[in-house]
Amino acid sequence: MPRIAVNGTTLHVVDRGSGPPLLFVHGFPLTHDMWQGQLDEFAGDYRVLAPDLRGFGVSDPVPAEPLTMEQHADDLAALLDAVDVTEPVILCGLSMGGYIGWQFALRHGKRLRALIQCDTRAAADAPDTRAGRMKLAETVLNNGAEAAATPMLPKLFAAATRDRSPEVIDRIRETIVGTRRETIAAALYGMAQRPDVTPRLPEIAAPTLLLAGEDDLLTPAKEMRAIAERLPHATFVEIADAGHMAPVEQPAAVNRALREFLDTLPA
Ligand code: MLT
Repeated sequence: MPRIAVNGTTLHVVDRGSGPPLLFVHGFPLTHDMWQGQLDEFAGDYRVLAPDLRGFGVSDPVPAEPLTMEQHADDLAALLDAVDVTEPVILCGLSMGGYIGWQFALRHGKRLRALIQCDTRAAADAPDTRAGRMKLAETVLNNGAEAAATPMLPKLFAAATRDRSPEVIDRIRETIVGTRRETIAAALYGMAQRPDVTPRLPEIAAPTLLLAGEDDLLTPAKEMRAIAERLPHATFVEIADAGHMAPVEQPAAVNRALREFLDTLPA
């Protein structure tokens, strides 16, 4: 897997297939691996790119200092330069990957052909959420990544996934506990200080698909439907029997929705 130098760090990136570039941006605290079901599906007719974001997976370590959504968006733009992707990309992000997607759209809009936002939100953190992130960062720095996995895992999945696909949960658990504690803290600090992009949604001209698991407890489908109403060119799709990790929980249904959206894009 190539490791690419960008903006003073090194990112690990999966780069497969050929065709229009389709960039997958993982959630917190995960890696490119969460997109396996999509990479296998779309590498046949797209150039699929899936980095481990700064500090995550096998990309270079980071200190426990705020890792902002703007920094990640700028890293993605630099990564595209480094791998010679000059045409506008379709960016597909989940949750934190979606927070980064908004920043990519606002800071690098000319490089964006379309946006796919899965299980994410546009609003900033409420004060109690922000305080919870600070507390969790401290706990993880003291006790390790396990301290993030334990409170997070029960909120990530629909009941259907817990009943029928426990192996999916085990895989995500493994990724979380494999994440460096400094990265988890840095991401929590960065997410806590991210701006509210709601007032800027009308500026996003790219066609956008908003995709939500119907049982998402963290970023509810209702909130994503409201985001769709503020975007100039948005489609909203709800995925049955899925929670916050819809692309991992229901890859076939998510891939159908992605394909349908991708097929509508002007060439
Ligand atoms: C994620 O899945 O990326 C996280 O739930 C984002 C967050 O903590 O806000």
